[in-house]
Amino acid sequence: MGLTIGIDVGGTKIAAGVVSRDGTIGARAHRDTPAGSVDETAKAICDAAAELIADHDVEAVGIGAAGFVSSDRSTVLFAPNLAWRDEPLGQRVADVLKVPVVVENDANAAAWGEFACGAAKDVEHMVCVTVGTGIGGGVVIGGELLRGAHGVAAELGHMRVVPGGHRCGCGARGCLEQYASGRALVREGRAQAESGSLAAAQMMSVCGITDPAELDGPMITKAAAAGDPCAVELLDDLGRWLGEGLASFATLFDPSTIVIGGGVSAAKELLLKSAQVAFDKNLPARANRPHPTIVMAELGNDAGIIGAADLARRPVAADPEPH
Ligand code: BGC
Ligand code: NA
Ligand code: ZN
Repeated sequence: MGLTIGIDVGGTKIAAGVVSRDGTIGARAHRDTPAGSVDETAKAICDAAAELIADHDVEAVGIGAAGFVSSDRSTVLFAPNLAWRDEPLGQRVADVLKVPVVVENDANAAAWGEFACGAAKDVEHMVCVTVGTGIGGGVVIGGELLRGAHGVAAELGHMRVVPGGHRCGCGARGCLEQYASGRALVREGRAQAESGSLAAAQMMSVCGITDPAELDGPMITKAAAAGDPCAVELLDDLGRWLGEGLASFATLFDPSTIVIGGGVSAAKELLLKSAQVAFDKNLPARANRPHPTIVMAELGNDAGIIGAADLARRPVAADPEPH
């Protein structure tokens, strides 16, 4: 049968699904992510999984978590935008569910989902960047997920793009996440709104709000899709930062496909267009090398569930003996 459960733990929602070997999601369960409470989050994850385990014969559970995950795939060492610090999430959930549990970085899980059965299913070398509250990265080289020495490779959102720039949730300054994430989009949008410019006032009225603090990412995306110039410019800027980042990732990893996923990817063409332009301008040796294809994610919100479920059935090779 080979069923596993994949669970995507997002900032607002916990989405779980029973996944078969071919990547098809059967039953699903959802919970709200409890704000700020690590204990309640673990409980909500267990509840969602238990609901599915009650009716299915499940081999293992894979959890995609938005943070730095230990190489044994059990502890969330740190989460820049959530409360996890050295959180033994895998053990806690396994103790309750009594099935093997692996914890994976959320973007690694999404990348693996897109690689296994989504936008990158026909390639061997791919990079996936998820644009949401934060920026996540997942890299597959030669069909293998890049994990690094300590499990925390491919934290692409924390590549520094502005020396001394905005302070990031990771403690450093000038990370890509501070310029190309959903949070950055909202920060810039609110700053525009507070500036009181005519264009910003028009955007606010298109969004149907008067208080800049009410502005959120989906509003900006919707206004941009409706052609509002201020919102279009905000997404354009975001796409430009993203494209410049992607050029650096292509320099490092030489993928044949780059997949853009995550919540902000709902802005699709708007984002892709400016990202592509910035990418083409900034790729080193651009006239004399093959370029990767940049595409939007295919699996949408399901990438993390499918990827985490598949990774849960794959043991990670032990490190070779030290030399
Ligand atoms: C975290 C990553 C995560 C990404 C997307 C970043 O801030 O460092 O671990 O994958 O956000 O959720
Ligand atoms: Na990652
Ligand atoms: Zn950072």
